[in-house]
Amino acid sequence: MARRKLIAGNWKMNNSNKEALELVNSLKDLVKDVKDRDIMIAPAFTCLSDVYNAVKGTNIKLGAQNLYFEEKGAFTGQISADMLLSVGCEYVIIGHSECRDIFGEKDELINKKVKRALDKNLIPVLCVGEHLEEREKGITSDIVSSQTKEAFKGLTETEAKKVVIAYEPVWAIGTGKTATPQDADDVHKTIRETLKSVYNESVSDNAVILYGGSVNEKNADDLLNMPNIDGALVGGASLVSDKFARIVNYIAK
Ligand code: PGA
Repeated sequence: MARRKLIAGNWKMNNSNKEALELVNSLKDLVKDVKDRDIMIAPAFTCLSDVYNAVKGTNIKLGAQNLYFEEKGAFTGQISADMLLSVGCEYVIIGHSECRDIFGEKDELINKKVKRALDKNLIPVLCVGEHLEEREKGITSDIVSSQTKEAFKGLTETEAKKVVIAYEPVWAIGTGKTATPQDADDVHKTIRETLKSVYNESVSDNAVILYGGSVNEKNADDLLNMPNIDGALVGGASLVSDKFARIVNYIAK
């Protein structure tokens, strides 16, 4: 089945409001003719509102880099789903390895965040991926499959079909090392098999699974032409409009 490609930029903790607007305004022009792929950018919370005003009515969708699962209240420093909706977000990244590793986010919390995003009609971009030691031990499939199952716990089939998954091997993030297209495709297949075992073939076939980890303008064509890779979650290269636009405009073979 033909899945629509999604190219997403995760800006992480970068860009002042002014810099964010410069970046998005330059990007807008470079990708304005793209119609057959979805484009999403996830700026820092502080820039969401202004970036939304810059992309409103264009082919660029807005995402946030995280959310908290509670409705509102005494949760200092946290951002709710309603707050993200109020500034135009359609997507939210959940379970990024930096949130898992630096801020101690566990599968249970990630599952609550995925559920909250879905309740509020935000599309979760769920990140999964193994550490280098885990790959070396040969347990990549176990790790990725278990992270997927835990994050999907309690989701109905309809909800499961809305989740975008990003496979991001932790050792490839920001390091310049990428999984080979074949290795990445194999893990994407494992994720599809996991979804098939928990749900069914339709959920597995429908799932949009992005690859992330040092995707750049040079390796994008090879990665994005693999049968099980439905797009990219791009960090570093999404901060440079020309590079990100080249990834968005990858050449389909
Ligand atoms: P990178 O980051 O492209 O800089 O490796 C990807 C990510 O963390 O989403």
